[in-house]
Amino acid sequence: MMLQGKRLLITGVLTRNSIAFSVAKEALRHGAEIMLTSHGRARSLTERSARQLADVPPAVLELDVTRAQDFSQLRTQIEDRWGELSGVLHAIAYAPADALGGDFIATPVASAVEAFTISAFSYNALAGCLAPLLKPGGSIVGLDFDSSRAWPAYNWMGVAKASLESVNRYLARDLGPRGIRANLIAAGPIRSPAARSGFRGFDLLAGAWAESAPLGWDAANAQPIAGAACFLLSDWSSAITGEIVHVDGGHHALALPAGQLPSQGRAD
Ligand SMILES: NC(=O)c1ccc[n+]([C@@H]2O[C@H](COP(=O)([O-])OP(=O)(O)OC[C@H]3O[C@@H](n4cnc5c(N)ncnc54)[C@H](O)[C@@H]3O)[C@@H](O)[C@H]2O)c1
Repeated sequence: MMLQGKRLLITGVLTRNSIAFSVAKEALRHGAEIMLTSHGRARSLTERSARQLADVPPAVLELDVTRAQDFSQLRTQIEDRWGELSGVLHAIAYAPADALGGDFIATPVASAVEAFTISAFSYNALAGCLAPLLKPGGSIVGLDFDSSRAWPAYNWMGVAKASLESVNRYLARDLGPRGIRANLIAAGPIRSPAARSGFRGFDLLAGAWAESAPLGWDAANAQPIAGAACFLLSDWSSAITGEIVHVDGGHHALALPAGQLPSQGRAD
């Protein structure tokens, strides 16, 4: 029970195919108490997912990261219910269609800024809002997609993820002296609601990933990401901060896809 006694806020649960749903499920299995967030019209989907997580469903609090007032209300509500918080999962991203899969160079600045605000700046905003409730030993975890390379179609979401990685380092710098950690998981492709609706060419990418990652990759299974998130939210990662843990089947480590060179990596 790696998370026994922990009180975690988990954002980003939409359906059971959301990565955050798997994290929430695994966190409950490891003994954590959780609350979820949702926003606007997505709330009914999140509430349905909450009912699938536990017989007594976790509370769903309102958080639209584009609304400053939601952050202050969120902090008050957590303070009223729990007083303190042990950890937070940031699993929030969005880019308008013309910033994700459109013409990269011609993307309007407003669309790029929206992608940045919701997908990267919100990590800082959430940390700033909740850090006063986090005890020393508290942990903030975000979900990343490796931004060290340019991907087909990912466009300004890729730029937002590069920003997210940078934000993570600054959060580690500024929250470390208060005993609070900030880490990202760079996940391989998962067939989530966002990936299915927003990312043209996703199936091609996921298929190529499965073939080229040394450990292989199953885009229908977010459990390995959930396990790593629970580790980062637990005391087992007490000296890790500013880190990006790749949970991607090892895809990031190779210059050429696994198995492309003859006899490469074979023990015989
Ligand atoms: N699916 C993948 O292949 C993949 C890979 C690596 C990283 N990620 C990251 O994982 C995280 C979760 O995404 P997912 O793939 O599980 O998809 P998802 O659609 O299940 O989750 C995205 C969440 O962002 C929320 N959101 C969007 N705009 C918001 C706003 N203004 N305020 C508050 N919440 C808002 C949505 O409600 C949703 O819950 C994202 O950061 C995503 O970039 C996804």
